[in-house]
Amino acid sequence: MLSNLFKKGANKMEQATEVLKERLAARHDELRWLYMELYNNGDMFAELCDQIYQFAVNRDAQLQKLDRSREKDPTWFRKNDMLGMMLYIDNFAGNLKGVKSKLDYLESCHVNCIHLMPFLESPKGRSDGGYAVADFRKVQPQLGTMDDLAQLAKACHKKGMNLCMDFVMNHTSEDHEWAKKARQGDGEYMSRYFFYDDPSIPQQYDQTVPQVFPTTAPGNFTYLDEMGYYVMTSFYPYQWDLNYRNPRVFNEMMYNFLYLANQGIDIIRIDAVPYIWKELGTSCRNLPQVHTIVRMMRIICEIVCPSVLLLGEVVMEPEKVVPYFGTVEKPECHMLYNVTTMATTWHSVATRDIRLLKKQMDIVNSLPKDYLFLNYLRCHDDIGWGLDYPTLEGYGMQEVGHKRFLNQYFTGAYENSGSRGELYNDDPVTQDARFCGTTASMCGVESAIFERNEEKLTHAIRMDLMLHAYMLTQSGIPMLYSGDEIGQLNDYTYKQDEDKKEDSRYIHRGKFQWNLAALNVKEGTVQEQIFHGLEELEKIRRMRHVFDSDVAVYTYDVKDNAILGILRQNEEERFIGLFNFHDEPRTAWMEEPGEYTNLLTNEQVTVRDLLIPGHDFLWLSKKLG
Ligand code: GLC
Repeated sequence: MLSNLFKKGANKMEQATEVLKERLAARHDELRWLYMELYNNGDMFAELCDQIYQFAVNRDAQLQKLDRSREKDPTWFRKNDMLGMMLYIDNFAGNLKGVKSKLDYLESCHVNCIHLMPFLESPKGRSDGGYAVADFRKVQPQLGTMDDLAQLAKACHKKGMNLCMDFVMNHTSEDHEWAKKARQGDGEYMSRYFFYDDPSIPQQYDQTVPQVFPTTAPGNFTYLDEMGYYVMTSFYPYQWDLNYRNPRVFNEMMYNFLYLANQGIDIIRIDAVPYIWKELGTSCRNLPQVHTIVRMMRIICEIVCPSVLLLGEVVMEPEKVVPYFGTVEKPECHMLYNVTTMATTWHSVATRDIRLLKKQMDIVNSLPKDYLFLNYLRCHDDIGWGLDYPTLEGYGMQEVGHKRFLNQYFTGAYENSGSRGELYNDDPVTQDARFCGTTASMCGVESAIFERNEEKLTHAIRMDLMLHAYMLTQSGIPMLYSGDEIGQLNDYTYKQDEDKKEDSRYIHRGKFQWNLAALNVKEGTVQEQIFHGLEELEKIRRMRHVFDSDVAVYTYDVKDNAILGILRQNEEERFIGLFNFHDEPRTAWMEEPGEYTNLLTNEQVTVRDLLIPGHDFLWLSKKLG
């Protein structure tokens, strides 16, 4: 079979074919084994191999070169200079060409990995922010073309930057060609989704499957009146879940995946990955078959485009997240979001108590360094309070009451909270609600500006920078949210937009304020203080190997539950970061006093008992050896 595959293009690209042959030979057996285990369909597997071959030989020569160089340096993405930023193309720069013209700005932010939020064809008003894809091979016309995307990728590569995009594989838009044909009753296409005419089956699913959007899109099925069928829609009613039991779905989605990778994308974010396999009587989350599929994607990726990384979006409790790395021998995703740490960070802000955060970080830090997390403070989604409640109960905090407290705290209901934002999917049944807002607004910048309170503003900016410094210190890769580098505030204009007003996530998806960004050079402005503050931190970070992703990271106890201590150490340097989560000055008591350099002021400090102002931080370093 292998030899057949290679007859076709053999003389075209001898050398590339040799490399490809080696990659395939090394992985073919496992791929076949996994595929047959799931689908037991030799013909479809042969077709998949044929397409793998086609996508591999048609891959741009420059990208093939990049593949080979990254294969030789498999830790290329674990260096201390990796810094991501996620942005909406239209909000940031109008369209793809606009983003290309703004690469210098991103470079000035030290960003070298750009996550473009969804930009593929998606119906207006029924798009879920672009996560309802109607055509995986077409860019939304107002944002540009596939060629613009490829040009942007090229321009990024020239500057040593990477490009990341979403691959929304759990569902398609109801406007996707397959969905349209299914709606017309074409059985071949109906079998690519989950259709039931008997209401008892959706009812059975609903008994075990939790809801994603309990208030904005309740239920897991949508009844299609004109057809007399229910279709599975775990997310919005216009997002139809794909049926990966059908090998045609898997194969076609892999071809779409490779098509996108071949545009020059470096990192593919696999959206909502835990949901992709459904089984009656289960929660339809994290089923074993999901891992078979992700492992196959990894193998296919390593054959066709080994320079491409897989970033899994697994918004689950930590014990459910880690399996998506696979094992060290049989890896799945290269990177995963550090979602629990993110939520726990904000919990620590509200409680001024870092115990749970420390515990969470200890778990992450003890994992093999091959498991790389993407750290962030805010992203385009809400913050779900998926905390470790059994541990919190030990501290006297109960789940329902604590969630209520957090939501009230961050909506600014308490006197001592400057945070501003809105609830998301406030579910009256479970009394569960999530939270939306920008980092700066959550830190109190918005309320301080509104109250014209200079003191509060200074404090809020300090807290914003402290949280960023902490994020840059964590084990893994930091990812900024566009606008956070200039302290952008909540945007309430979505309430005037018919298509957006029901979805409060748009409060932190506002247009990038270029007029405010221009102030980042004007001393004393909010923008300058945050931009400049971040710049200093990023400069320090990229100069020191102690910030490489493979370096050992530990938490460091300083005898005060309001101060988080993080230690990073390699052979040359011992680095200690101290972050005061309290609004009042607190003392960090060091077990091993010593002489350190304050990296921000370059001063020598005797580290013994250190008084740290409210919401401030210290970056300390000592040369070793
Ligand atoms: C992911 C996205 C979210 C979207 C959902 C459905 O969770 O981050 O924005 O609503 O997938 O595709």
